Amino acid sequence: MRTQDLDGPVEGGPAKPAEAAPKKIFVKTYGCQMNVYDSDRMVDVMAPHGYVETKSQDDADIVLLNTCHIRERAADKVYSELGRLRDLKEAQAAKGKKLVIGVAGCVAQAEGVEMQRRAPYVDMIVGPQTYHRLPELVTRADNGGPAQIETEFPVVDKFASLPAAEKRKTLARGPTAFLTIQEGCDKFCTFCVVPYTRGSEYSRPFARILEEARSLVDAGVREITLLGQNVNAFHGEDEAGSAGTLGGLIRALARIDGLERLRYTTSHPRDMDEALIAAHGDEQKLMPYLHLPVQSGSDRILDLMNRQHTADHYIRLIERIRVARPDIALSSDFIVGFPGETDADFEATLGLVREVGFVQAYTFKYSPRPGTPAAGHDNQIAEEVKVERLARLQGLIAEQQLAFNKSCAGRRLPVLFDRRGRTPTQLVGRSPFLQSVVLDNAPAHLFGQIAEVDIEEGFAMSLHGRLVKEEVFSA
Ligand code: SAH
Ligand code: SF4
Ligand code: F3S
Repeated sequence: MRTQDLDGPVEGGPAKPAEAAPKKIFVKTYGCQMNVYDSDRMVDVMAPHGYVETKSQDDADIVLLNTCHIRERAADKVYSELGRLRDLKEAQAAKGKKLVIGVAGCVAQAEGVEMQRRAPYVDMIVGPQTYHRLPELVTRADNGGPAQIETEFPVVDKFASLPAAEKRKTLARGPTAFLTIQEGCDKFCTFCVVPYTRGSEYSRPFARILEEARSLVDAGVREITLLGQNVNAFHGEDEAGSAGTLGGLIRALARIDGLERLRYTTSHPRDMDEALIAAHGDEQKLMPYLHLPVQSGSDRILDLMNRQHTADHYIRLIERIRVARPDIALSSDFIVGFPGETDADFEATLGLVREVGFVQAYTFKYSPRPGTPAAGHDNQIAEEVKVERLARLQGLIAEQQLAFNKSCAGRRLPVLFDRRGRTPTQLVGRSPFLQSVVLDNAPAHLFGQIAEVDIEEGFAMSLHGRLVKEEVFSA
């Protein structure tokens, strides 16, 4: 296992110049929250080598694209961005400046060799489990070495090699933070690239997660979202040395003083166990919002997708969760136009959306992904059918979302203020149900705090409210 002491010299990385101005790294993130988490870690691993983060590509010494392979469009965006970066690299070279271009994340993992051919000006290609090796790759790129690919799956190495939380430059980005507790997936849904790009399931031990959470809280974080491609399949070693559960981890995290809110994403219906459902019932810090992807309401399609559950199983699961936490708000992911999806299958999806009463959802047109079983099915659905189904599904979900938001008018909700609004006197926060809550004439000191808000109006995408009293709900 490789570890790094960030205060000391780091083997294999570029030497830190004694007095030179810091070099700059720019990371552009695509895809899911786990990539957001990883992008910050990429900045962290380069920090001991004298790199600081920049928000502009133009003054960067390294530009890293942290990419997503989930749908074709996501992957295409990377190649068009790379074309622009090639021009930037040439322009910088004309001024005598070297720009190192790196591609990280799931496209790098899936298409590393192909990418080297299509974009030979890319200096480094690292997969989601190998970005802790960036310093070595940067050294080789700085020395004019050929493009390098690092796309193995040493998940354990990655976490062991990442800088300890309290040493991170990226720690305090605001009052909310992501914390990856689980990686990879063993489920192999027939449409999905994740098991191929992220590798098999791995869970971090409780001790490391608790340590990271405490550091986040010390840095001012009030709400942590636990992340994993299959976060509720979490089975990290608990404090007694046994395989833990997500429910157990949530209870352990909830004991951290100053940590006010917990969320987790994204979960699989098959992994919602009793311990987790019980935590929704009695752990007050666990927010009453659950993103539980179902993908389709048709059993035939669910079977073809290899989801290993039926629509009825999902509905009964939701009933059990609602017994534990009656006011829970539900969100989901849906794919329309999976190969062979008939009108009747699609109607079953609409029926499930109505029956469960989702208040939010992410909807996608099926996108055939190379190497996945469904991409080879011969009954692919025509684009215009996908477009039409997507619009109908989105229309229904928007209706339900608006109805839920309107139903919140008149309620008093605790809101964690985590963003500035459009005007200088506005602050925006999150309700327990993950709605954006906009407050006009907000006192600046509310930023990063939880305060009670009387909701006055609900809109399609947000709530507007009035502060109950100046007094801050939690310090
Ligand atoms: N682990 C999560 C999903 C992670 S991927 C789960 O099991 O549900 C995020 C979402 O992208 C998926 O829920 C799915 O709705 C969508 N997605 C994945 N592959 C896709 C594809 N080939 N075409 C369209 N949408 C896809
Ligand atoms: Fe992809 Fe989620 Fe299925 Fe895993 S469980 S294969 S991440 S959709
Ligand atoms: Fe995309 Fe990889 Fe996340 S494919 S959705 S960045 S796990």
